[in-house]
Amino acid sequence: MDERLLAAAIARRRLMPVGPATDVRRLVDGEGDGLAGVVVDRFAHIVRVELWASHWPGTDADVEAAWGLPALLAPLGVTAIVAVLRTAAGRSIQRVLWGQVPEAHVVHEDGLRLLVRVADERAVGAGVFVDQRLGRRLVRDAARGRIVVNLFAHAGAFGVAAAVGGAARVDHVDMAKKCAPWAATNLALNGIDPRGHRFIVDDALAVLARLSRRPKSCGVIVCDPPTQAVRTDGTRFVLRDALHELAEHACTALDDDGLLLLSCNDRDVAVADVLTAAQAGAKSAGRVVKTLGELPLPADITSKDAPRGRPMRGVVLRVR
Ligand SMILES: C[S@@+](CC[C@H](N)C(=O)[O-])C[C@H]1O[C@@H](n2cnc3c(N)ncnc32)[C@H](O)[C@@H]1O
Repeated sequence: MDERLLAAAIARRRLMPVGPATDVRRLVDGEGDGLAGVVVDRFAHIVRVELWASHWPGTDADVEAAWGLPALLAPLGVTAIVAVLRTAAGRSIQRVLWGQVPEAHVVHEDGLRLLVRVADERAVGAGVFVDQRLGRRLVRDAARGRIVVNLFAHAGAFGVAAAVGGAARVDHVDMAKKCAPWAATNLALNGIDPRGHRFIVDDALAVLARLSRRPKSCGVIVCDPPTQAVRTDGTRFVLRDALHELAEHACTALDDDGLLLLSCNDRDVAVADVLTAAQAGAKSAGRVVKTLGELPLPADITSKDAPRGRPMRGVVLRVR
């Protein structure tokens, strides 16, 4: 690991605005900082490093040395660092590199309070995906008075943004049982009574298919799925193959001026393909596309500007 590149990435972020009342941000974004296979996120006073073994084979000894990160980060108020190694075999191994890592703690984004769990090696993430910051802002701005469906809700960060933005109701959908209480806690942390919202433990694709049988029944749909997953019926879901159908069902369910945020974490799918799938899905649903554009990525997601950088792709579509 090139410690000078790490230090440069962290120094560069000090000049980047992340928005008001925000202490969750990316410090190192892989290829965007010349460090392919390394992502470092700051969750308030705790830092989480993710390393992909395909880029950093035999990293363990390196991890123990922690590449001087404590010395770089302590002056910035960081008190602990945890690393998650993604092995070639698809396993995740966690190492506390420095300090005391809490099981859960509260972070802030755009004034929202969100509970994160940075030390769960089985989890896909900590509960707040940094690259979706502007998506959450967009959903918050579109939510007033509307029914919002948050598919693949995880810890409910999009749902909290919608509820704080004045949504009439947010339906969180995730097949993992632990996600419903997590999302409810996050609403409560923001002064919102979770009893006014729904937490559906079910297959998001099945829920969306049912929703599409009730045309024009909701105002905002967030669809932020994993690249692939095993569904509740045991079949495998592959996002790149499902984009068109997801867009079609969502566009059918959206009311007039409805908004769909559709993201794709498959790094091998080009954003143009996601845009095409969204457009084609709207057409199959018989809807007119009012606006369709790429979901903006925050400045700290530097891999978006790197020649071989492959950040999350997202599109935002409004229908009539
Ligand atoms: C990448 S996370 C979603 C992130 C979330 N949208 C956010 O903003 O934090 C993926 C989530 O999808 C859930 N999931 C995976 N397959 C699913 C399915 N078929 N139906 C419902 N939830 C699913 C997982 O349990 C996990 O919580």
